[in-house]
Amino acid sequence: MPRPIIIDCDPGHDDAIAILLALAHPEELEIRGITTVGGNQILDKITDNALKVLSFVNADIPVAKGAAGPLFGKLVTGEEAHGESGMDGPVLPASKFKPVEQGAVEFMLGLIRASEEPVTLVPLAPLTNIALLITAYPEVKNKIKEISLMGGGLAYGNVTSTAEFNIFVDPEAARIVYESGIPIVMSGLDVTDKAAIFEEEILELKQKGPVSVMVGELLDFYSIYGKKMGYVGNALHDPCAVAWLVHPELFQSEHLYVTVETEGKLTRGMTVADRRKKPDRQPNVQVLTGVDREAFMKLLFDSLERLDRKLSAAAGVNN
Ligand code: BDR
Ligand code: CA
Repeated sequence: MPRPIIIDCDPGHDDAIAILLALAHPEELEIRGITTVGGNQILDKITDNALKVLSFVNADIPVAKGAAGPLFGKLVTGEEAHGESGMDGPVLPASKFKPVEQGAVEFMLGLIRASEEPVTLVPLAPLTNIALLITAYPEVKNKIKEISLMGGGLAYGNVTSTAEFNIFVDPEAARIVYESGIPIVMSGLDVTDKAAIFEEEILELKQKGPVSVMVGELLDFYSIYGKKMGYVGNALHDPCAVAWLVHPELFQSEHLYVTVETEGKLTRGMTVADRRKKPDRQPNVQVLTGVDREAFMKLLFDSLERLDRKLSAAAGVNN
């Protein structure tokens, strides 16, 4: 039986790749719905991006729009990395699908309540929607199996020296989620920076089928910012949170008590772990710390090839 999941996202180049990765594994993952939240770009843009990605691969999965901005204060977007559209690069056809009428919180609530088995949440963006859900309807926590999220970093940040983007955008929401008692698997910068794709691999993708080529084009744009920032390779942040669900054996991890700093001048949005031998609290987070990069890349390439074949078969083309 595939594991029921809800993906909460802000596509976002790496969000789009994460969605495709999940779609390529129907035996392991059943995407019951996708919710969107203001993050890499404003809500309307990233929702449209999510719908375009789904349309590209003919995946009619319900999408619900969520919070336009964080619980407090104004939205900070990731335009510098993700461009004006939030997913600059390939020119994708207009979406065939529309978002559902319900907002993200009610939509998630309905899916979770209706599900026979507990649902796994996969947040790849600021945690606003998830915090709103579990604050308004705390009883749903019992029906959430776990949360495999992309966010944070124990060693360093990427927006400030201490804070990673998804947590930085809405630290109050992140704190609610981290302290919720729901088991969390954290793909933070500690692991996602190690899941980097290199230029020659991007070139390789662009020699393949339509989905791989589209991802190659996404990464061409994404790598412009990476180069500017002096990164070696392009970190595939969000796909880590999905890859862990499909192949957890590719990752190394530590179980730690982690929460979120909401006040510090230098540390607002930092994920703080208690590494003492005798921490005050029990571990609440499985922090991913390492990944077999080669195996992760193979998983990604094979997954995209699966989607390439599906698309070609649907179009009646024999590859
Ligand atoms: C995270 O921030 C966003 O820009 C990416 O989509 C990813 O979720 C990385 O810090
Ligand atoms: Ca994201």
